[in-house]
This record gives sequence, structure tokens and C-alpha cells, in this order.
Amino acid sequence: MICCMLKRFCMKALFFLCGCWIWICFSCTTQSFREPSLQLIPQPAKICFEKGEFVLNQHTPVFVAGGEEMDSEVELLSAVTRQLGGFDLKREKGENAIVLQLDTTVACVGKEGYRLKIEPAGVTLSAPEVSGLFYGIQTFIQLLNDPQFYNAEEHAWHLPAMLVEDEPAFPYRGLHLDVSRHFFPKEFVMKCLDLMSVYKMNRFHWHLTDAAGWRIEIKRYPELTERAAWRTQENYMDWWNGDRHYATSDAPGAYGGYYTQEEIREVVEYAARRHVTVIPEIEMPGHSEEVLAVFPQLGCYGQPYRNGELCIGNEATFEFVENVLTEVMALFPSEYIHIGGDEASAAAWEKCPKCQKRRREEHLKDEKELQSYMIHRVEAFLNAKGRKLIGWDEILDGGLAPAATVMSWRGESGGIQAARMGHDVIMTPGGYCYFDSYQADPRTQPAAIGGFLPYLKVYSYHPVPAELSPEEARHVLGAQANLWTEYIPTTAHAEYMIFPRLLALSEVVWTPREKRDAADFKRRIAWHIDWLRGKGVNVFGLSDRLDLLDEVDTLQRRIRVRFDSEKYKPEIHYTLNGGAEQLYTDAFYVTDSACIEAFLVEDGKPSEEVLQKRLDYHRAVGKKVHYEKLYSSSYPAAGESTLVDGKRGGLTYGDGRWQGFLSDVNVTIDLDSVCDLSYVSAGFMQLIGPGVYMPNFVSVSVSEDGETFQEVARIDNRVPADEKQLVIEDFTARFKTRGRYVKFFAKRQRGFQFIDEIVIY
Ligand code: ACM
Repeated sequence: MICCMLKRFCMKALFFLCGCWIWICFSCTTQSFREPSLQLIPQPAKICFEKGEFVLNQHTPVFVAGGEEMDSEVELLSAVTRQLGGFDLKREKGENAIVLQLDTTVACVGKEGYRLKIEPAGVTLSAPEVSGLFYGIQTFIQLLNDPQFYNAEEHAWHLPAMLVEDEPAFPYRGLHLDVSRHFFPKEFVMKCLDLMSVYKMNRFHWHLTDAAGWRIEIKRYPELTERAAWRTQENYMDWWNGDRHYATSDAPGAYGGYYTQEEIREVVEYAARRHVTVIPEIEMPGHSEEVLAVFPQLGCYGQPYRNGELCIGNEATFEFVENVLTEVMALFPSEYIHIGGDEASAAAWEKCPKCQKRRREEHLKDEKELQSYMIHRVEAFLNAKGRKLIGWDEILDGGLAPAATVMSWRGESGGIQAARMGHDVIMTPGGYCYFDSYQADPRTQPAAIGGFLPYLKVYSYHPVPAELSPEEARHVLGAQANLWTEYIPTTAHAEYMIFPRLLALSEVVWTPREKRDAADFKRRIAWHIDWLRGKGVNVFGLSDRLDLLDEVDTLQRRIRVRFDSEKYKPEIHYTLNGGAEQLYTDAFYVTDSACIEAFLVEDGKPSEEVLQKRLDYHRAVGKKVHYEKLYSSSYPAAGESTLVDGKRGGLTYGDGRWQGFLSDVNVTIDLDSVCDLSYVSAGFMQLIGPGVYMPNFVSVSVSEDGETFQEVARIDNRVPADEKQLVIEDFTARFKTRGRYVKFFAKRQRGFQFIDEIVIY
């Protein structure tokens, strides 16, 4: 009996506890059902809305609970109330206050994390470290900047009560800037640092030296800046394709500049106040043409303007590098010192008696090991001074230095390899992190280096490759955007390339992956673009481009078509084969051939940019393709099925749909049986910057038996070889014949040719 009562009591207690739990969860979700839409970027790890609101007005005090000196953090808040509300926060203790507290017991968040509690009775921002308080303030400022919470008549904010518990997903959240190809003044660097800190980015990688100019004052070697910080032409591409000579600052037409040590100290301190570490990069052993122009004795040929690699057999090279790095370390407190390491040619080392002597004496197998020898020595030098070496992923070649960190730029494979070896890694793969790529249709954009990286592709990135084990994955410290500036001569252009893509990366590296939401990010980024413009930032904005997302269904022999846009909840209209305009609401199917046109409609107006695409579920889809000569191993796309998979390529040859050839294209498609044939068409791309050209001509031949072929069409190229714009063009032939085998031949003009699909009817 007692046992029975006890059981019933336990059951009731259990029901009661479950009920409480459900009520707690439900109240959080019902409240979050009514929750305001915030405009925060990056999205915090956790937000729970509560009842009530906090009113912030000219009576609101702000103070630091432990009395620590945090004037600059408090000033950030006051600057916003001053600018938007016309008043300073009172810096005193009091009721209904904003309280900042350093609290190592804030258990819910880790390093750089914070807990922001907004209640009717006050705001408490707690963090175990000052950096966490700084990031909490950034979040709070983004709330203050949101006009939905500001009452202009009252000069007051009504902030919804909430609890934010936030911390970064990754400790390394970087932006790189190449100031060698084009030089940017320190004020611009500071503007970047300001904006980075708004988005909780914390590493600024300063690419200070390269062939295009040496940009840091080195007291011991004033010649570097006297003679290699200016060049003969402003336009980098003209200079690089021209004489590649350096000049003194007073030479007519000289272009360049450098940072004095005083300016560098100023920037480093400015960054530190924004919790950004500045990582200097001094390139070696390659990308050093400017050093060799000044000190030719450090090169294998002993002559300027011959090559860009330091001589590794020469002890003077190490003396130079160590002297430079000693001054660099005195200026930059960063634990990491970046030594470049990328894209060095071994050609001079192979012929250099000093390098070969070094190779023999050190028992180095080849020139890769020779380069690795240098990196090892430089690492030992840095480590002895308490610093760590970081370099581009070529530092893996010939053996990675014992404690080096690898910056993986040629895709992720270097990073994966390094993480598996137990080394730390920063991911910066070109396909997701190179902000010098186009961010919209190249035909609508200022010239860029190539590629295609819209913000949604940045947003889709995750720095930890799936193939890493949890233990290996811990070595991936984060990701970084790189801005190389070959095509970026001005600060306005640099801003245009960085923003808004940096916002997407900030969410990639800060927000837990499961909390990332591209659809909601579209809403928030639109708001931030306006905000950034208001701050005088030359943001690219959002493209009017529509993406066509096609899925080929070989079972039902059809292509499922959807559209996507960078814009939030876009209105999209489209036509099929020139028919009536329709409002796009959901996916539709193409079963044979469809010419699709689609465009955005905003405020009743159609956008000028129109998506035009032809899709074909054609006779050759899924059929066997025989290659006389295989495609380039660098651009295989989907391998041997690529040319007949029904998928058309996009705006970049790197999208996995374009197959690249350094030879003629010479393939035969077997249609399985003899049939009537009337149409062959194939898409090619031309983009001469990276050396991609149309074929000279295309020839189509048909055979019934696979032995005897008859040419049925020949199409000559109409695109001039000096056309600078991206061109995507179909080479189309119409004829009447019967056959089973279609031989498709495209004569290479020069460089690469890229082809996406061979459509056959
Ligand atoms: C690089 O882009 N050469 C690191």
C-alpha cells in the first residue's frame, strides 16, 4: 500500500516536473514565436527573449562592476547614444544601469564569449575576458542601431528583455589585405579594423611585402623602402606585364608608398583596442623580386630583375631575413609571424652552385626540401623569440616545420594534411575565401582576377572538412578572407570587394553551424548593407542576379528547376520558350528543351539583369562518352559524365560543371542505337585574364557503326581573342542525318578551353 502511494506520488511528481519542463520550454518557444526579428550579424549562439523591456535614456548610468579601467569600451556605447540620441551615458553607479562585469565564473561561455542580460531593471554584460565584454558591447550597439527599438520623440530606446549567451565558433576570424600590389594608407587599414571589430573578426593579416613593392620601414635596410616601395607604373597589371621595374619616390609617374614604423605601431595599437591582432607577412623565399632589385646578391643570379626567389645556399639570405624579422617582431606583438612560402619557383635553385652545395651538405632530396630547410631555419629563429611561424600551404612541401601553422589556400587539402599531422590550420580556400573574385556576373562588374564568389557561397562555407576526425578538426582554428589587390587600385574598390562578403564570413566563423540560416541571413544582410552605406562604406550591395538551380532526374528523365536570389523574399517572374510571363512560386520541370528567362521584380519594376538559360533533357543525357584525350586533371568537373549530364555551367569555370582542356576536345558519344539526328550544340567559355579561350572551330561527325564518320557540321568561332569580357557561347549545328555515334571535336585556340555540355537531339 505504502509502496503503491509512494509510486503514485513519484508518478505525480514526475508529471509535475515534466509539466514544468514543458511549460518552461513552451513559454520560451511561445515567446520566441512573438520574438522581434533582430538584425544581428553574426547571429549569436543563443538568444532567449523574456518579458518586458529595458528603457535606455539620458538618465541611464553605465559602470564597470569591479571598477576596472574600461574607458574605451564604455566610450563605444556612449558614442552611439550621443550620435543617435544626443546624450552621453552617465558614467556612474546607479539604478537601472548598464553594468559591465569581468566575471571568470560566467560558466556558459568560453574565451571571447559574453552573457548579455537585458531586463526591465537594467542591463548586465558579463564576460570572463575583456574581449568578451567588447563583443557583448558590439551586439548591444547593433541593437541600439536598429531603429525598431528607438523612440525619437522620447530620445530613448525600448529594448526587449532577453538573454544572449554568445561565444565564437572559431578562435581565428581573419581578413587579409595585400598592400603590395596596391598601397593603401593607414587610415584605410584603420577603417577596415573598425569594421572588422563590428563583426567580431579578430585577425588582420597584413601582406606587407611582395614583388609589387616593399611596404614596411626597416631601419637596418632603408634601401628597401627607398628603392623598392615605388614602381614605374600605378596600374599593377600594366606594370607586371611591362617592365616590372622599381623607382624612387620622386621619379616621374612613380607609384607606391610604405608604412613607417611609427605608423605601424599606431595601427597595431588601434587594432589591439578593437581586439584585433595584426599578423605581419614578410614573403620568402619567393615573391621577393623587390628585395632582389635592392640586394641582388641575395638571389642566385646575383642580378636584379632576373627572378623572385631568395638564394637558400647563401648565409647572407638568413642574416637578412633574421634582421628584418627582428624589427618586425619588435613592431608586432602577434604570436604568429607569417613568412609567406607560396609559389616559389625552383628554377634558379636548380642551377645555383650555392643552393646545390647546401642541398648536398644538408642531404636534401630536392628543391622542395631545400625550401623546407629554409622554412625550418626561420621557424627555429621565430620560436626562439617566442613566436610561431605561419605560412601558405606550400610550406608542407618538402616536410613541414615542427610547430608551423598552415594557411590552406589551394583548396582544403593542405589544411587537411596539416591537421592530420597534428598542426594547426587556418582555412582560406580560394573557392570560398578569395574576395578578389567576382561577386556578381563579371559582365556587370569592374575587372577582377576571375572566379565567382557571391556572398551566399561564402556563407555556405564551413571551415572544418567532413573528413577530419573530431581530434583532427580541433586543429582547424578558423578561416580568413583574402583580398589580393592586383585589380584593386583604390580604397573604395577594396571596400566594394570586402563588403558585404566579410559579413557572411563573420557568421561562418562566429555562429555555431546549426544556427546558421542563409534565408534569415538574407534579411539581416540587407539591413547591414544600408547601415554600412550610412557609415560611408562603399559596399557592393546585393546583386539582381538570379541563380538557376537545376537537378537532373535521370529516372524520370527531367530537370527540376528552381530560382534563388541574394535578396530576401524576392518576387521572381519567368517565361518558358518565350511564352507568357509567370510568377515563380515553386520548382517546375523541364522534360526536353526549354529557353528560360527570369528576372526580379522590385516595387513593380523588373530588374535590368535577366537570367537567360537554355536547359535540355536531351538524347545524350547519361550516355557513354569516349575521350581521345582526357580533360585536364585540374578541371575534371564531374569526370566522364560531365559533357552529357544535362547540367549547364555557371559564371565561373571553377564551378564543377565546366570541363577544362589544355588540348583539343575530341570525344565520341555513343547513343546506344541508330536514330534520327538534327541538332548538336555545346557551350564554351572565354575569359582571357586567366587564359581561357573559345575553340577555333567545332566539328561534328556522325557514324552508324562507330568506324566510318561523316562530318555533318563545322562551326567557326566568332568571339575575338582579345575580347576582355567574360563570354559564354553555344556552338550550335543543325542538320538532318541518322547515326548512333557523334564525334565532337573542338580545336584549341590557346590556353584552356572549357566546355560544359554537348546537347544532342
Ligand atoms: C596565394 O594566393 N598565393 C597565397
